[in-house]
Amino acid sequence: MLVEKLENLKQEILAEIDKVDYSLRKTLTEIRVKVFGKSGHLTMFSKGMRELSAEERPKVGSLINSVRNAIEERLTAKEKEFENLELNERLEREKVDITEPSKGVLKGAYHPILDVTDKLMDICVSLGFSVVEGPEVESDYYNFEAMNIPKNHPSRDMQDTFFINDNILLRSQTSAVQAREMETRKPPFKIICPGKTYRNDSDSTHSPVFHQLEGLVIDENVSMADLKSMLTNLMKRLYGEDTTIRFRPSFFPFTEPSIEVDVSCPSCHGKGCTTCKGTGMLELLGAGIVNPKVLEMSGIDSKKYRGFAFGFGLDRTAMILNSINNIRYLYRNDIRFLNQMK
Ligand code: DAH
Repeated sequence: MLVEKLENLKQEILAEIDKVDYSLRKTLTEIRVKVFGKSGHLTMFSKGMRELSAEERPKVGSLINSVRNAIEERLTAKEKEFENLELNERLEREKVDITEPSKGVLKGAYHPILDVTDKLMDICVSLGFSVVEGPEVESDYYNFEAMNIPKNHPSRDMQDTFFINDNILLRSQTSAVQAREMETRKPPFKIICPGKTYRNDSDSTHSPVFHQLEGLVIDENVSMADLKSMLTNLMKRLYGEDTTIRFRPSFFPFTEPSIEVDVSCPSCHGKGCTTCKGTGMLELLGAGIVNPKVLEMSGIDSKKYRGFAFGFGLDRTAMILNSINNIRYLYRNDIRFLNQMK
């Protein structure tokens, strides 16, 4: 009776396995559970062995084993067969046609701002400057007060600043690193700081995010003559030997005296064109002799030391060097534009 039942089960399950085709391959797992699972058919038979007599038990036991092996073998064979089919299907699906023409690789290009920053850093490092960085989220103290721009002073209006609260702001000038460096360094030293700056300003030549490069030299006996000769050297290396440089008196709260520096327009070589609005010259940077008040506020003895400083607009420099007429091109992230700059 039992032997017959086992034999029937075997035939029934084997037939069931044979019937499973590839599209229903998941049912193999169901069959596995149905036969070998916790309350599967064969498991139940094994459990039932307890009720058998001592002489029946080995006979039935070995029959159960042979049924188990037969089913297991058939299941495994079928699973293997489906695995192979699945693999072939995947290989077919993921086949790479190596004869197909390529779509081409989009190559990036150096961004013009990064390019002038690198050029200026190279020149300055060759002149003995160290490169430093400062925070873009800055305190009112370093951005303004330590630069001799007190709270409520009208000179603050020169820079329309993004305030985060009364004391924290997005730095409006890289000059903010001056006091930080003066507080921590022992003179003499020469530093430059390139980086992002922020002002509420937006038109074809202004962007709310822009870039500056600040320079600061502190030493005994530095003079306006040193500043002029250094900037002349720097400008000629950036714009070419034949560049004419003009120094004009100006005003900045942190320098006294202050100057602005113009160079002959590289597009027309001083003759006058649309880039320079017919003047033949382009305004490039502010500079000056560091106001002794600024030195003292940062703990530098203004009787012993003097300094000069300068601040470049990097976006403007990049625009002039690459004849870009709208600052927005620098921020559009258009690969076609970048590739033109190569
Ligand atoms: N911080 C000034 C600005 O953003 C530029 C500047 C002028 C920097 C004179 C200097 C300087 O270091 O000496 O308009």
